[in-house]
Amino acid sequence: MTKSISSPNSSSNAPLFNPLRLGDLTLAHRVVLAPLTRMRSTQPGDIPNALNATYYAQRATPGGLLISEATQISLEGKGYPVTPGIYSEEQIAGWRIVTDAVHAKGGYLFAQLWHVGRISHSSLHPQQGLPVSASAIAPADGKALTAAFQQVEFETPRALALEELPRIVADYVHAARCAQAAGFDGVEIHSANGYLPDQFLEDGVNHRTDVYGGAIENRARLLLEVVDAVVSVWGPGRVGVRLSPWGKFNSMNDSNPLALFTYVLQQLSARSIAYAHLVEPRANGGADGALDASAPDAAASFRKAFPSALISAGGYLGDTASKAIASGHADAIAFGRWFISNPDLPRRLQLGVELNPYDRSTFYGGTEKGYTDYPALDEILSPTLA
Ligand SMILES: Cc1cc2nc3c(=O)[nH]c(=O)nc-3n(C[C@H](O)[C@H](O)[C@H](O)COP(=O)(O)O)c2cc1C
Repeated sequence: MTKSISSPNSSSNAPLFNPLRLGDLTLAHRVVLAPLTRMRSTQPGDIPNALNATYYAQRATPGGLLISEATQISLEGKGYPVTPGIYSEEQIAGWRIVTDAVHAKGGYLFAQLWHVGRISHSSLHPQQGLPVSASAIAPADGKALTAAFQQVEFETPRALALEELPRIVADYVHAARCAQAAGFDGVEIHSANGYLPDQFLEDGVNHRTDVYGGAIENRARLLLEVVDAVVSVWGPGRVGVRLSPWGKFNSMNDSNPLALFTYVLQQLSARSIAYAHLVEPRANGGADGALDASAPDAAASFRKAFPSALISAGGYLGDTASKAIASGHADAIAFGRWFISNPDLPRRLQLGVELNPYDRSTFYGGTEKGYTDYPALDEILSPTLA
């Protein structure tokens, strides 16, 4: 489905173009590239490549923040075919092409560290066997995607044993070190959208009876151990965490999201990490269709729990993004779908000009079509020079 819309005029977007201190960085503006899985790594080996570098460089601006597509920390953590990893020498070398290209444009790039847990399929990692999770509970809805791009029923995951959890934390540490070696500017721990850390956080999925289950403090334990371990590699000013309170994507639910995520965000705030990144539940994980107006406002709900840099994502356009910043509920806005189709989105928001429509059929997998061929304004205004 494609859409064509006009963004509002530039004066109302001014709040997006003030600098922002975000951990160790000073951003020149507040228009952030949301993490976006595009499934275009080189095979075999899930290795980033020159085409990926072109895509990120097109979206880089001096002092602007890009967050990479979710990037598996291990083969076990892989959930979809052709997504890139950040645990092998070849992947480090591939990401180096990408980070160099972004830095050449003066931009910053954080790597989103990803373990999908139960959303995986054993065909993606035949040696490792079944997907793993907090508990042996398969997602109620949706399908798994096999290595051959087939949609199949989810497998029932294997509950991780207590003794295995240090190995999971160690995999995050290894990936964090690889991200450093690849030249990233920091890392974002993906604890949103129903992937492994979220599977531990939310009691609809975590039925454990050990010290990683039950009370909120127990369910948050794995995420906070991962955060502490990754902070020990990068320092707090280079680490962000993404969360999706009230998110239903990947069959998630929790009995008390307000209490759970207030605790988690207070704990993250106490650790002085660079930023918290909240996915707004109204956007339903980036699915098209009307925003759910009845969904709670996550940024507004958790602002007090996390007073420093807060990135909000989900269903924003220039006007609503500016309002969220002006209201003080968020400090920066991550854009997903509109940044896919508008490589120069910050400039377009600043000028208040029309946005390119996006083509969902080319979101996941494929070539440069729908990836690096969306035109920037200059190419539209003077096509012969493009
Ligand atoms: C094609 C696509 C891929 C996505 N991949 C990721 C991802 O890798 N990691 C993540 O945290 N969220 C991912 N999301 C969610 C987006 O980061 C974002 O939260 C969502 O699209 C809502 O923002 P938007 O309304 O600006 O598109 C994805 C969304 C889309 C549409």
